[in-house]
Amino acid sequence: MRIMLVGFGVVGSNLAKIFIDQREKLRRGRGINPKVVSIVNSRGALVDPEGINLETALKARESAGGLGSLKEIWNEGAKPPEVLDMIECDVMVEAAPTDLMSGQPGLDHIRAAMKNEVHVVTTNKGPLAIAMPALLELAEHNDVMLKFSGTVGGGTPMLDFAKKCLEGVEILSVRGILNGTTNYILSKMDAEAVPLDSALAEARELGYAEADPTYDIDGLDAAGKLVIIANWVMGRSLSIHDIKIEGIRKVDQDRMKEAKEQGKTIKLIAKCDSEAEVAPMAIERMHPLNVSHTFNAVTFDTDLAGEITLVGRGAGGPETASAVLRDLIAIRRFYSRRGTLMGRMMRRA
Ligand SMILES: NC(=O)c1ccc[n+]([C@@H]2O[C@H](COP(=O)([O-])OP(=O)(O)OC[C@H]3O[C@@H](n4cnc5c(N)ncnc54)[C@H](OP(=O)(O)O)[C@@H]3O)[C@@H](O)[C@H]2O)c1
Repeated sequence: MRIMLVGFGVVGSNLAKIFIDQREKLRRGRGINPKVVSIVNSRGALVDPEGINLETALKARESAGGLGSLKEIWNEGAKPPEVLDMIECDVMVEAAPTDLMSGQPGLDHIRAAMKNEVHVVTTNKGPLAIAMPALLELAEHNDVMLKFSGTVGGGTPMLDFAKKCLEGVEILSVRGILNGTTNYILSKMDAEAVPLDSALAEARELGYAEADPTYDIDGLDAAGKLVIIANWVMGRSLSIHDIKIEGIRKVDQDRMKEAKEQGKTIKLIAKCDSEAEVAPMAIERMHPLNVSHTFNAVTFDTDLAGEITLVGRGAGGPETASAVLRDLIAIRRFYSRRGTLMGRMMRRA
Protein backbone atom coordinates (compact mmCIF):
# COMPACT_ATOMS: atom_id res chain seq x y z
CA MET A 1 0.00 0.00 0.00
CA ARG A 2 1.61 3.25 -1.17
CA ILE A 3 0.97 5.99 1.37
CA MET A 4 1.35 9.75 1.30
CA LEU A 5 1.64 11.18 4.80
CA VAL A 6 0.45 14.79 5.05
CA GLY A 7 1.57 16.11 8.43
CA PHE A 8 4.53 14.60 10.26
CA GLY A 9 3.78 15.86 13.75
CA VAL A 10 2.52 13.86 16.75
CA VAL A 11 0.12 11.68 14.75
CA GLY A 12 2.19 11.29 11.57
CA SER A 13 5.39 10.41 13.43
CA ASN A 14 3.59 7.91 15.69
CA LEU A 15 2.13 6.22 12.63
CA ALA A 16 5.63 5.98 11.13
CA LYS A 17 6.85 4.36 14.38
CA ILE A 18 4.04 1.79 14.22
CA PHE A 19 4.96 1.00 10.60
CA ILE A 20 8.57 0.42 11.69
CA ASP A 21 7.81 -1.58 14.86
CA GLN A 22 5.02 -3.71 13.41
CA ARG A 23 6.16 -4.17 9.82
CA GLU A 24 6.17 -7.99 9.94
CA LYS A 25 2.96 -8.23 11.96
CA LEU A 26 1.17 -5.95 9.51
CA ARG A 27 2.43 -7.86 6.50
CA ARG A 28 1.68 -11.35 7.77
CA GLY A 29 -1.35 -10.67 10.00
CA ARG A 30 -3.11 -7.94 8.06
CA GLY A 31 -1.80 -8.25 4.53
CA ILE A 32 -0.59 -4.66 4.59
CA ASN A 33 2.82 -3.69 3.37
CA PRO A 34 2.92 0.06 3.99
CA LYS A 35 5.30 1.94 1.72
CA VAL A 36 5.41 5.65 2.54
CA VAL A 37 6.17 7.35 -0.77
CA SER A 38 5.78 10.94 0.44
CA ILE A 39 5.86 12.90 3.70
CA VAL A 40 4.58 16.47 3.52
CA ASN A 41 4.90 19.15 6.18
CA SER A 42 4.36 22.92 6.19
CA ARG A 43 7.66 23.56 4.39
CA GLY A 44 7.73 20.99 1.62
CA ALA A 45 7.70 17.29 0.84
CA LEU A 46 9.89 14.23 0.86
CA VAL A 47 9.13 12.18 -2.23
CA ASP A 48 10.51 8.75 -3.08
CA PRO A 49 8.50 6.32 -5.23
CA GLU A 50 10.68 3.47 -3.90
CA GLY A 51 9.58 4.18 -0.31
CA ILE A 52 11.08 6.57 2.22
CA ASN A 53 13.29 5.11 4.95
CA LEU A 54 11.12 5.96 7.98
CA GLU A 55 13.90 5.65 10.57
CA THR A 56 15.89 8.23 8.61
CA ALA A 57 12.87 10.51 8.25
CA LEU A 58 12.13 10.35 12.00
CA LYS A 59 15.76 11.24 12.78
CA ALA A 60 15.68 14.11 10.27
CA ARG A 61 12.46 15.41 11.84
CA GLU A 62 14.29 15.78 15.17
CA SER A 63 17.37 17.38 13.61
CA ALA A 64 18.05 21.11 13.22
CA GLY A 65 17.57 20.92 9.43
CA GLY A 66 14.27 19.03 9.73
CA LEU A 67 12.99 16.90 6.83
CA GLY A 68 14.72 19.33 4.43
CA SER A 69 18.07 17.86 5.52
CA LEU A 70 17.26 14.81 3.36
CA LYS A 71 18.21 16.89 0.32
CA GLU A 72 18.08 14.17 -2.36
CA ILE A 73 14.39 13.52 -1.89
CA TRP A 74 13.32 16.92 -0.51
CA ASN A 75 11.07 19.23 -2.55
CA GLU A 76 11.09 22.68 -0.95
CA GLY A 77 7.63 24.30 -0.85
CA ALA A 78 5.81 21.36 -2.47
CA LYS A 79 2.19 21.03 -1.37
CA PRO A 80 0.01 17.90 -1.41
CA PRO A 81 -1.80 18.66 -4.74
CA GLU A 82 1.56 19.04 -6.53
CA VAL A 83 2.95 15.93 -4.87
CA LEU A 84 -0.06 13.95 -6.10
CA ASP A 85 1.01 14.88 -9.65
CA MET A 86 4.59 13.77 -8.96
CA ILE A 87 3.99 10.21 -7.71
CA GLU A 88 1.44 7.42 -7.64
CA CYS A 89 -0.08 6.49 -4.29
CA ASP A 90 -3.06 4.54 -2.98
CA VAL A 91 -3.90 6.39 0.24
CA MET A 92 -3.36 9.88 1.64
CA VAL A 93 -3.16 10.04 5.44
CA GLU A 94 -4.16 13.62 6.25
CA ALA A 95 -2.86 14.74 9.66
CA ALA A 96 -2.33 18.47 9.17
CA PRO A 97 -3.50 21.01 11.79
CA THR A 98 -7.21 21.57 12.38
CA ASP A 99 -8.98 24.79 11.42
CA LEU A 100 -12.63 24.56 12.44
CA MET A 101 -13.58 27.82 10.74
CA SER A 102 -12.31 27.19 7.19
CA GLY A 103 -11.46 23.47 7.21
CA GLN A 104 -8.15 24.39 5.53
CA PRO A 105 -5.56 23.28 4.59
CA GLY A 106 -7.03 19.78 5.03
CA LEU A 107 -10.06 20.47 2.85
CA ASP A 108 -7.88 21.18 -0.21
CA HIS A 109 -5.65 18.18 0.55
CA ILE A 110 -8.59 15.77 0.80
CA ARG A 111 -10.35 17.12 -2.31
CA ALA A 112 -7.13 16.89 -4.35
CA ALA A 113 -6.54 13.29 -3.23
CA MET A 114 -10.04 12.14 -4.06
CA LYS A 115 -10.01 13.86 -7.45
CA ASN A 116 -6.82 11.86 -8.14
CA GLU A 117 -8.70 8.67 -7.12
CA VAL A 118 -6.62 8.32 -3.97
CA HIS A 119 -8.28 7.02 -0.78
CA VAL A 120 -8.15 9.29 2.27
CA VAL A 121 -7.68 8.57 5.96
CA THR A 122 -7.90 11.74 8.03
CA THR A 123 -7.46 12.57 11.70
CA ASN A 124 -8.20 16.24 10.97
CA LYS A 125 -11.76 17.11 11.94
CA GLY A 126 -11.66 20.56 10.32
CA PRO A 127 -12.61 19.51 6.78
CA LEU A 128 -15.40 17.25 8.06
CA ALA A 129 -16.79 19.84 10.46
CA ILE A 130 -17.15 22.23 7.51
CA ALA A 131 -18.06 20.00 4.57
CA MET A 132 -18.63 16.36 5.55
CA PRO A 133 -21.69 15.63 3.35
CA ALA A 134 -19.97 17.12 0.27
CA LEU A 135 -16.75 15.20 0.97
CA LEU A 136 -18.60 11.90 1.36
CA GLU A 137 -20.36 12.60 -1.95
CA LEU A 138 -17.06 13.40 -3.65
CA ALA A 139 -15.62 10.12 -2.32
CA GLU A 140 -18.53 8.18 -3.74
CA HIS A 141 -18.32 10.00 -7.06
CA ASN A 142 -14.62 9.13 -7.39
CA ASP A 143 -15.11 5.59 -6.06
CA VAL A 144 -12.65 6.06 -3.20
CA MET A 145 -12.94 5.61 0.56
CA LEU A 146 -12.89 8.48 3.03
CA LYS A 147 -12.11 7.19 6.53
CA PHE A 148 -11.90 9.28 9.70
CA SER A 149 -11.84 7.02 12.80
CA GLY A 150 -9.12 9.14 14.44
CA THR A 151 -11.15 12.36 14.36
CA VAL A 152 -13.39 11.31 17.27
CA GLY A 153 -12.35 9.50 20.42
CA GLY A 154 -8.64 9.05 19.56
CA GLY A 155 -8.13 5.29 19.59
CA THR A 156 -11.57 4.56 21.07
CA PRO A 157 -13.67 3.19 18.19
CA MET A 158 -16.76 5.33 18.81
CA LEU A 159 -17.71 5.72 15.14
CA ASP A 160 -17.06 2.11 14.12
CA PHE A 161 -18.85 0.84 17.23
CA ALA A 162 -22.03 2.76 16.45
CA LYS A 163 -21.94 2.04 12.73
CA LYS A 164 -20.98 -1.64 12.80
CA CYS A 165 -21.91 -3.08 16.19
CA LEU A 166 -25.27 -1.33 16.52
CA GLU A 167 -26.62 -2.42 13.15
CA GLY A 168 -30.27 -3.34 13.47
CA VAL A 169 -31.07 -0.94 16.30
CA GLU A 170 -32.03 2.68 15.90
CA ILE A 171 -29.89 5.26 17.64
CA LEU A 172 -32.35 7.74 19.09
CA SER A 173 -29.84 10.14 20.59
CA VAL A 174 -26.17 10.57 21.36
CA ARG A 175 -24.57 12.31 24.34
CA GLY A 176 -20.86 12.55 24.71
CA ILE A 177 -17.89 13.99 26.54
CA LEU A 178 -15.73 14.53 23.50
CA ASN A 179 -13.04 16.91 24.73
CA GLY A 180 -10.38 15.73 27.17
CA THR A 181 -9.06 19.18 28.08
CA THR A 182 -12.40 20.54 29.32
CA ASN A 183 -13.16 17.26 31.02
CA TYR A 184 -9.90 17.54 32.95
CA ILE A 185 -10.75 21.11 33.98
CA LEU A 186 -14.34 20.34 35.04
CA SER A 187 -13.29 17.17 36.91
CA LYS A 188 -10.66 19.19 38.80
CA MET A 189 -13.19 21.94 39.61
CA ASP A 190 -15.61 19.31 40.90
CA ALA A 191 -13.10 17.31 42.97
CA GLU A 192 -11.04 20.17 44.45
CA ALA A 193 -13.46 23.12 44.35
CA VAL A 194 -10.89 25.24 42.47
CA PRO A 195 -11.83 28.04 40.03
CA LEU A 196 -11.70 27.47 36.26
CA ASP A 197 -8.59 29.61 35.77
CA SER A 198 -6.41 27.57 38.10
CA ALA A 199 -7.71 24.25 36.72
CA LEU A 200 -6.88 25.52 33.22
CA ALA A 201 -3.39 26.63 34.32
CA GLU A 202 -2.74 23.14 35.67
CA ALA A 203 -4.06 21.52 32.48
CA ARG A 204 -1.59 23.67 30.53
CA GLU A 205 1.30 22.75 32.82
CA LEU A 206 0.57 19.05 32.39
CA GLY A 207 0.31 19.39 28.60
CA TYR A 208 -3.43 18.64 28.50
CA ALA A 209 -4.26 22.10 27.13
CA GLU A 210 -2.74 23.96 24.19
CA ALA A 211 -1.11 27.37 24.67
CA ASP A 212 -4.28 28.69 22.98
CA PRO A 213 -7.08 26.52 24.37
CA THR A 214 -9.89 28.46 22.65
CA TYR A 215 -11.21 25.52 20.58
CA ASP A 216 -11.45 23.40 23.72
CA ILE A 217 -12.77 25.93 26.23
CA ASP A 218 -15.31 27.45 23.84
CA GLY A 219 -16.73 24.06 22.87
CA LEU A 220 -15.68 24.17 19.19
CA ASP A 221 -13.56 21.03 19.31
CA ALA A 222 -16.47 19.06 20.82
CA ALA A 223 -18.85 20.59 18.25
CA GLY A 224 -16.60 19.50 15.35
CA LYS A 225 -16.65 15.94 16.70
CA LEU A 226 -20.41 16.05 17.24
CA VAL A 227 -20.88 16.97 13.55
CA ILE A 228 -18.95 13.85 12.56
CA ILE A 229 -20.92 11.56 14.92
CA ALA A 230 -24.30 13.04 13.96
CA ASN A 231 -23.64 12.78 10.22
CA TRP A 232 -22.04 9.35 10.24
CA VAL A 233 -24.03 7.58 12.91
CA MET A 234 -27.41 9.33 12.78
CA GLY A 235 -27.59 10.16 9.08
CA ARG A 236 -27.77 13.93 9.62
CA SER A 237 -26.35 16.48 7.22
CA LEU A 238 -24.79 19.03 9.55
CA SER A 239 -21.86 21.40 9.56
CA ILE A 240 -20.38 23.06 12.62
CA HIS A 241 -22.48 26.15 11.83
CA ASP A 242 -25.65 24.15 12.63
CA ILE A 243 -24.55 23.36 16.20
CA LYS A 244 -25.64 25.47 19.17
CA ILE A 245 -22.39 25.94 21.07
CA GLU A 246 -21.64 27.16 24.58
CA GLY A 247 -18.23 26.54 26.11
CA ILE A 248 -17.24 26.24 29.78
CA ARG A 249 -16.02 29.80 30.43
CA LYS A 250 -19.06 30.66 32.58
CA VAL A 251 -18.95 27.54 34.75
CA ASP A 252 -18.12 28.60 38.31
CA GLN A 253 -18.09 27.07 41.77
CA ASP A 254 -21.68 28.21 42.48
CA ARG A 255 -22.90 26.10 39.57
CA MET A 256 -20.70 23.18 40.60
CA LYS A 257 -22.03 23.33 44.19
CA GLU A 258 -25.65 23.48 43.06
CA ALA A 259 -25.13 20.38 40.87
CA LYS A 260 -23.37 18.55 43.73
CA GLU A 261 -26.31 19.16 46.07
CA GLN A 262 -28.53 17.38 43.54
CA GLY A 263 -26.17 14.38 43.22
CA LYS A 264 -24.93 15.67 39.87
CA THR A 265 -21.81 17.14 38.30
CA ILE A 266 -21.22 19.58 35.44
CA LYS A 267 -19.76 18.21 32.21
CA LEU A 268 -19.33 19.67 28.74
CA ILE A 269 -21.87 17.56 26.88
CA ALA A 270 -22.18 17.27 23.11
CA LYS A 271 -25.60 15.92 22.27
CA CYS A 272 -27.67 15.17 19.24
CA ASP A 273 -31.36 14.27 19.35
CA SER A 274 -33.88 16.50 17.59
CA GLU A 275 -31.26 19.26 17.97
CA ALA A 276 -27.48 19.31 18.03
CA GLU A 277 -25.87 21.16 20.90
CA VAL A 278 -22.69 21.52 22.95
CA ALA A 279 -23.04 23.04 26.43
CA PRO A 280 -22.11 22.51 30.08
CA MET A 281 -24.86 20.33 31.55
CA ALA A 282 -25.53 18.67 34.90
CA ILE A 283 -25.42 14.86 34.72
CA GLU A 284 -26.05 12.24 37.40
CA ARG A 285 -22.84 11.35 39.27
CA MET A 286 -23.67 7.65 38.92
CA HIS A 287 -24.16 7.79 35.15
CA PRO A 288 -21.41 5.94 33.21
CA LEU A 289 -20.86 9.12 31.19
CA ASN A 290 -19.40 10.71 34.34
CA VAL A 291 -15.76 9.99 33.47
CA SER A 292 -12.91 11.95 35.00
CA HIS A 293 -9.45 13.21 34.01
CA THR A 294 -8.98 13.55 30.23
CA PHE A 295 -11.19 10.58 29.38
CA ASN A 296 -13.86 10.74 26.69
CA ALA A 297 -17.17 8.89 26.77
CA VAL A 298 -20.20 8.59 24.56
CA THR A 299 -23.65 7.20 25.31
CA PHE A 300 -25.83 5.92 22.49
CA ASP A 301 -29.51 5.72 23.40
CA THR A 302 -31.10 3.04 21.24
CA ASP A 303 -34.66 1.83 20.66
CA LEU A 304 -34.01 -1.88 21.40
CA ALA A 305 -30.75 -2.10 23.37
CA GLY A 306 -31.24 0.86 25.72
CA GLU A 307 -28.25 3.00 26.64
CA ILE A 308 -24.75 1.87 25.70
CA THR A 309 -21.72 3.86 26.86
CA LEU A 310 -18.22 3.64 25.47
CA VAL A 311 -15.27 5.09 27.43
CA GLY A 312 -11.65 5.61 26.40
CA ARG A 313 -8.77 7.97 25.83
CA GLY A 314 -9.92 10.70 23.48
CA ALA A 315 -6.52 11.65 22.07
CA GLY A 316 -2.81 10.89 22.12
CA GLY A 317 -0.30 10.17 19.37
CA PRO A 318 -0.15 6.35 19.54
CA GLU A 319 -3.91 6.08 20.20
CA THR A 320 -4.82 8.25 17.21
CA ALA A 321 -2.25 6.55 14.99
CA SER A 322 -3.88 3.23 15.94
CA ALA A 323 -7.18 4.58 14.59
CA VAL A 324 -5.41 5.46 11.31
CA LEU A 325 -4.08 1.93 11.16
CA ARG A 326 -7.61 0.55 11.64
CA ASP A 327 -8.78 2.64 8.70
CA LEU A 328 -5.89 1.51 6.50
CA ILE A 329 -6.70 -2.11 7.31
CA ALA A 330 -10.37 -1.49 6.48
CA ILE A 331 -9.43 -0.02 3.09
CA ARG A 332 -7.11 -2.91 2.35
CA ARG A 333 -9.75 -5.46 3.39
CA PHE A 334 -12.48 -3.82 1.31
CA TYR A 335 -10.42 -3.85 -1.85
CA SER A 336 -9.08 -7.34 -1.38
CA ARG A 337 -12.67 -8.63 -0.94
CA ARG A 338 -13.63 -6.87 -4.14
CA GLY A 339 -10.72 -8.74 -5.76
CA THR A 340 -9.95 -5.69 -7.85
CA LEU A 341 -6.73 -4.70 -9.51
CA MET A 342 -6.37 -2.01 -6.83
CA GLY A 343 -6.56 -4.66 -4.11
CA ARG A 344 -3.81 -6.69 -5.75
CA MET A 345 -1.70 -3.59 -6.25
CA MET A 346 -2.04 -2.61 -2.56
CA ARG A 347 -0.85 -6.05 -1.48
CA ARG A 348 2.18 -5.90 -3.76
CA ALA A 349 3.26 -2.33 -2.98
N1 LIG B 1 -2.36 14.65 18.63
C1 LIG B 1 -3.49 14.03 18.93
O1 LIG B 1 -3.62 13.38 19.97
C2 LIG B 1 -4.66 14.08 17.96
C3 LIG B 1 -5.80 13.31 18.22
C4 LIG B 1 -6.85 13.32 17.31
C5 LIG B 1 -6.80 14.11 16.19
N2 LIG B 1 -5.70 14.90 15.97
C6 LIG B 1 -5.67 15.74 14.77
O2 LIG B 1 -4.71 15.22 13.86
C7 LIG B 1 -4.07 16.29 13.16
C8 LIG B 1 -2.57 16.22 13.43
O3 LIG B 1 -2.35 16.37 14.81
P1 LIG B 1 -0.88 16.41 15.42
O4 LIG B 1 -1.05 16.38 16.88
O5 LIG B 1 -0.03 15.41 14.74
O6 LIG B 1 -0.43 17.87 14.98
P2 LIG B 1 1.04 18.49 15.00
O7 LIG B 1 1.91 17.71 15.91
O8 LIG B 1 0.88 19.94 15.20
O9 LIG B 1 1.58 18.23 13.51
C9 LIG B 1 1.01 18.86 12.40
C10 LIG B 1 1.83 18.53 11.19
O10 LIG B 1 1.19 19.11 10.05
C11 LIG B 1 2.16 19.84 9.29
N3 LIG B 1 1.54 20.93 8.56
C12 LIG B 1 1.22 22.17 8.99
N4 LIG B 1 0.66 22.88 7.98
C13 LIG B 1 0.68 22.06 6.89
C14 LIG B 1 0.29 22.22 5.54
N5 LIG B 1 -0.25 23.37 5.10
N6 LIG B 1 0.48 21.18 4.69
C15 LIG B 1 1.04 20.03 5.11
N7 LIG B 1 1.41 19.81 6.39
C16 LIG B 1 1.24 20.82 7.25
C17 LIG B 1 3.16 20.33 10.34
O11 LIG B 1 4.35 20.68 9.68
P3 LIG B 1 5.52 21.47 10.43
O12 LIG B 1 6.17 20.47 11.32
O13 LIG B 1 6.39 21.93 9.30
O14 LIG B 1 4.87 22.60 11.18
C18 LIG B 1 3.26 19.09 11.21
O15 LIG B 1 4.13 18.15 10.61
C19 LIG B 1 -4.71 17.58 13.68
O16 LIG B 1 -5.74 17.95 12.79
C20 LIG B 1 -5.29 17.18 15.02
O17 LIG B 1 -6.39 17.95 15.40
C21 LIG B 1 -4.62 14.89 16.82
